Amino acid sequence: MYFGTDYYPEHWVYPFAGTPEQPESRWERDAEMMAAAGINVVRMGEFAWGLYEPEEGRYDFSWMRRAMDVMAKAEIKVMLGTPTAAPPLWLAKKHPEILPLDNRGLPLREGTRRAYCMNSDVYWDYCQRIVRALVKTLGDHPQLIAWQIDNGLGGHQTEASFNEETRRDWHAWLQAKYETIGRLNDLMGNRFWGQVVTDWSQVPMPMTAPTVHNPALSLDWLRFNSDTLVAFVKMQADLLHELSPGRPVTTNLRALSRTFDHFDVAEVLDFVGVDSNATVKARSSEIAREIDIMRSLKKDGINSPDGAEGFWVLEQKAGHVDWLDVNSLVRPGVVRLFTYQMISRGATGVLYFLWRQPRFGSEKFYGGVLTHDGRGENRVYKEISQIGDEVRLLAPLIKGSKVVAETCILYGHDNEWTIRHGWMPNKHFNLQEHIQLFYNALHDRNIAADFARPTEDLSRYKIVFAPSLYLMAGGEADRLKLYVQNGGTLVGTFNTGLVDEHHIAPDNGYPHDLTDLFGMEVIEFDPLPPGEENHLIVKPGFPTSHLHPARIWCDIIEPKECQVLATYAKDFYAARPAITMNTFGQGRAIYIGTQSHQPFYYDLIAWLRTLGGINPPIKVPDTVEVSMRQTESARIYFLLNHQNASVRIQFYKPMHDFLTDDNLSGNYDMPPRGVLILDEHYTKE
Ligand code: GAL
Repeated sequence: MYFGTDYYPEHWVYPFAGTPEQPESRWERDAEMMAAAGINVVRMGEFAWGLYEPEEGRYDFSWMRRAMDVMAKAEIKVMLGTPTAAPPLWLAKKHPEILPLDNRGLPLREGTRRAYCMNSDVYWDYCQRIVRALVKTLGDHPQLIAWQIDNGLGGHQTEASFNEETRRDWHAWLQAKYETIGRLNDLMGNRFWGQVVTDWSQVPMPMTAPTVHNPALSLDWLRFNSDTLVAFVKMQADLLHELSPGRPVTTNLRALSRTFDHFDVAEVLDFVGVDSNATVKARSSEIAREIDIMRSLKKDGINSPDGAEGFWVLEQKAGHVDWLDVNSLVRPGVVRLFTYQMISRGATGVLYFLWRQPRFGSEKFYGGVLTHDGRGENRVYKEISQIGDEVRLLAPLIKGSKVVAETCILYGHDNEWTIRHGWMPNKHFNLQEHIQLFYNALHDRNIAADFARPTEDLSRYKIVFAPSLYLMAGGEADRLKLYVQNGGTLVGTFNTGLVDEHHIAPDNGYPHDLTDLFGMEVIEFDPLPPGEENHLIVKPGFPTSHLHPARIWCDIIEPKECQVLATYAKDFYAARPAITMNTFGQGRAIYIGTQSHQPFYYDLIAWLRTLGGINPPIKVPDTVEVSMRQTESARIYFLLNHQNASVRIQFYKPMHDFLTDDNLSGNYDMPPRGVLILDEHYTKE
């Protein structure tokens, strides 16, 4: 397993460290301190273009080679970034056309990072040159094990630009998609407000306008930007694969907070890299959901530096961030807890951002492994050294292990984009919150969940949840039907199938293409304002711990073949179905026509469990998070106490505490923010 840190050797030369005689002497001390903390990999160089190429064509990679040599002495491997996230100043001066224009046509200026238009041929050309020069000079260094492409793609809202070259590519993209102007006008619904075009060049980019753009156009625009970004990553990935074979490529992604298709990006990478800004939240399941999404981006065909089938955390925050209003210290034990949360959910490499708080620049008060003084007597360095010792022990145990989920939540980017960017029936509906209700219920019962696009092969899952697939493409509906036909259990909800992939509403009933699957039709829907609610009256057999409200949205359902599991309590649709279940082929399709409070989703999971087959791995109090990695012959349970108070666990059968080698049975008190790793070995029959 790889355990590491993000290191900026360029920050630690004379006059900021070292001496006039030996300006780089601090590097050796850093490498020694890293090795002492158990660190075996560093990521370097992702912002170094201006230092590698201070003037056009005058390259200097020698300092980085020396830094890599220093790492070699300490037996630390290296991941290098391609430095394209931060173009040098001379490039922006020479080619101001690479600067991205915003949605009012104003340029975002040079002088920081990410100031480039991804559609600029000039920029692509310069990127290829610097990547080629970098690989040619450093690509054969024995320490080098992997590449990171660019950094923080789409960050600082740079997913889209409105340059002339963007317009050119946009029109070409539309032409490839629609082929004729007639199809474009029809499928985009351009008759609305009379916005038909007679020539490709007339199709607008959705720049600031008096009101919202055609949602079909806005959606295509986001798809186009995503394809542009994926093409930019692929261009670099192809180059690296060609010039530096055998060294896997990745990039650092954040949990869906940026507007591009993360699944598509993962397809052109060898393994997924993640940035984690985890801060203590009211629910550990909020972070867990993000981690599970990131793990799920690439389920097959993973090629990581040590062959492990997981993802890497390229930036696990070592301490506080510097971009909140108040950047409080991260409490003792929290970095350890978050590190294990990542590992327990599938990480096979963890690197801390950043090695040492820089003495200059905008991130100088970001929490680092080392503080400004660089002495290593600080709290965080000690905590990370402890984790380093533990990870060294743990690595052989978790080698080859994976998280195996039997449930899955469907998520499609273009579905969320269109929900977020258009005029919707209820502005208070939030897809992430809706997903989180299902996720919490699974998480709090310690049932593992993957995330998947609706087009994936779902046959490996016993239950699939499909919260609010507002946009339902024909191919997606077919996949869902196939899954249920073959015996799967699908849970769908309101706000599903209101439009197809072209953003056209169906004329044969909602949910589009799925009325046969659910054995019913939604004939009207009633969005509710915050604070207003209806109630669910459930039929016998469906467990109810509470009176469950119906909030946000009530579908009015006309049942056909389905069975009714619950009805509404009041209003003109009182006694009409709110929850239904239909047998379809060998499986069942359950439909929940409203959004409820959290306890409803606990009851739902309890009920689904009675239908068969999903069991939590181990029984613990609700506040303890449990996840499991498994191999052919072992199960490794991670128990995380996210509370700042101890919690009592009862072991009904003895379990082996891997880190202390104790056998635990009966009562066990987990310390505040404690971590317990239990291993269980068996021989397969
Ligand atoms: C990351 C970025 C780092 C650093 C960090 C701050 O997304 O890659 O360079 O700026 O954010 O949170």
